[in-house]
Amino acid sequence: MNLFKTDEDLIRDFHNVWHPCTQMKDHETRPPLLIERAAGVHLFDADGNRYLDVIASWWVNILGHNHPRINQAIKNQMEKFSHVMFAGLTHKPAIDLAETLVNSSSPNLTKVFFSDNGSTAVEVALKQSLQYWVQTGNPEKKQFVYLKDGYHGETLGALSVCGSDLFRDKFEPVLMQNREVVGPDCFRCPYGLTPDSCQAECFEPMQKTLEQNHATVAAVIIEPLVQGAAGMKMYPPIYLKKLEEACNACDVHTIYDEVAVGFGRTGALFVSEHHGLQPTFLCLSKGITSGVLPLAATLTEEKIYAAFYDEFASMKMFIHSHSYSANALACAAANETLALLQEEGFMAGLQPKMDALKEGGRQLETLPWCGEFRQTGMIAAVELVKDRDRKEPFPWQQRVGHQIFLEGLKRGVYMRPLGNVVYFIPPLVIETNEIQTMIDTAYECIDKVLGGK
Ligand SMILES: Cc1ncc(COP(=O)(O)O)c(C=O)c1O
Repeated sequence: MNLFKTDEDLIRDFHNVWHPCTQMKDHETRPPLLIERAAGVHLFDADGNRYLDVIASWWVNILGHNHPRINQAIKNQMEKFSHVMFAGLTHKPAIDLAETLVNSSSPNLTKVFFSDNGSTAVEVALKQSLQYWVQTGNPEKKQFVYLKDGYHGETLGALSVCGSDLFRDKFEPVLMQNREVVGPDCFRCPYGLTPDSCQAECFEPMQKTLEQNHATVAAVIIEPLVQGAAGMKMYPPIYLKKLEEACNACDVHTIYDEVAVGFGRTGALFVSEHHGLQPTFLCLSKGITSGVLPLAATLTEEKIYAAFYDEFASMKMFIHSHSYSANALACAAANETLALLQEEGFMAGLQPKMDALKEGGRQLETLPWCGEFRQTGMIAAVELVKDRDRKEPFPWQQRVGHQIFLEGLKRGVYMRPLGNVVYFIPPLVIETNEIQTMIDTAYECIDKVLGGK
C-alpha cells in the first residue's frame, strides 16, 4: 500500500518538511515511515507494522527506545526544571555528568565542555585547539590534519575536517584549508597485509605529514577504530598508538571523535580509555543520552584548560556558547544512561551478542557479493562487491544499498546501508535471537537484490 495516497499526515509532511540527507523527490513515490511509537529495539509505524531498528536511529539509541529508567530520570528532572542557560548558572545533573565522564574516560582528561550535537562537539575541540596555540605563542599552528574518508559532522568547521567528497564538494570554496592524509584501508590494503601481519604500515603518510608540517599543524582529528560514515571502515588500534607517539613527539594535539563509537559500541565504554590512549580532546555525543535528547561533550586535559584560565582582563576565556548547552533534561538522561552502562555485568553481557554477530558474519560471507565482513565489538558491516576477486564496487548509480533498504522494510527490518555497505549498529540491548533475525533478513535482502545481477 502506498501510505502517501491515504495518509493525511504524510501529505502534510511532504508539503512542509525538508528531511536531512534525503532527495525529497524520492518521497513523491516512497514516503518516509510515519513512526507512532518505539519500544526496545523496535519501531512501530502508523499502520502498526513493526521494524527491527538495526542502526539504532542513526547510531544514537544504545539502550533501546522508550527505556523506562531513562524516561523516569527525565520526568524526575522535569518536575524540578527543564533548562537554564549554562553561563553563570549550573546544576546538579551537569555536575554529576561531568564528574562521571572525567572518571570514566582517559585519566588525562579532566575538564568537560557541553554542547548539543556531534558536530558542535567537534567544533569546540577545533576552536579550543586553535585558541590554545594562539594563547601559548604559536599562532602559526592553525591547520588540522584529517583522514581521507573521515567524517566529523556537517557544520562548515566540522566539514573542513571531513575527508569525503560526497559531503564537501558543494562547499569546498568556503572550507578551511586543512590537510587530508590517506589513512588505513584494511579491505583494500595497498601494502597487501592481513590483520596478522599488519603493523599499521599505512601510518607512513601521516608520519610524513606530521614531520614536514608540524610547525603549522594544530591537531590531528580521527575517528578511533571505525570510520563510520565511510562505510564502517575499521582499522587496528596500533594505528592510534603510532598517532599518539607521533603527535606527542612533534607537539600536535589529538582530537578523538568518539561521537559514533563511544558509549559501549566497540565493547568498551570508550575506545581511547580502553586502549590506554590519552587524546588531547575527546568528542562525545550520539549515545550519551541513549538517543533520547540532544547533548554533546568535549573533554580536554588540564594543560589546555590552564591556557584559558587567567584574570578577566587577559580575555583568554573560551567564547563559545550554545543556547541549549548542558540541557538539564538531557544531562539527566545521560546520567541514567551511564548508570545503566556501568551496572555490573552490562558490558560483559555484550560478549555473547558480539559472538552472535561474528557467527552472522560467517553466514553473510557465503554470499558471492560479500567482499568483506568486518566487526568491531557491536558494530558490523558487509561490503558488497560486484567482483569478489577484484573487489570491484557496484556503481553508486545502481543504488544497491537503497534497494536492499526497501527489501528490508518489506521484511520488518530497518537498515539504511551506506552505499554498498550494509551495516549493523543495533541498540546494545538487542537479544541474540534478534541478531539472528537481522542477519537472516540482510542475507535474504542482499540475495534478492543482487541475485541474477
Ligand atoms: C564520528 C562522527 N562525528 C561527528 C558526527 C556529527 O554528529 P551530529 O550528527 O550529531 O552533528 C557524526 C555523525 O554521524 C559522527 O559519526
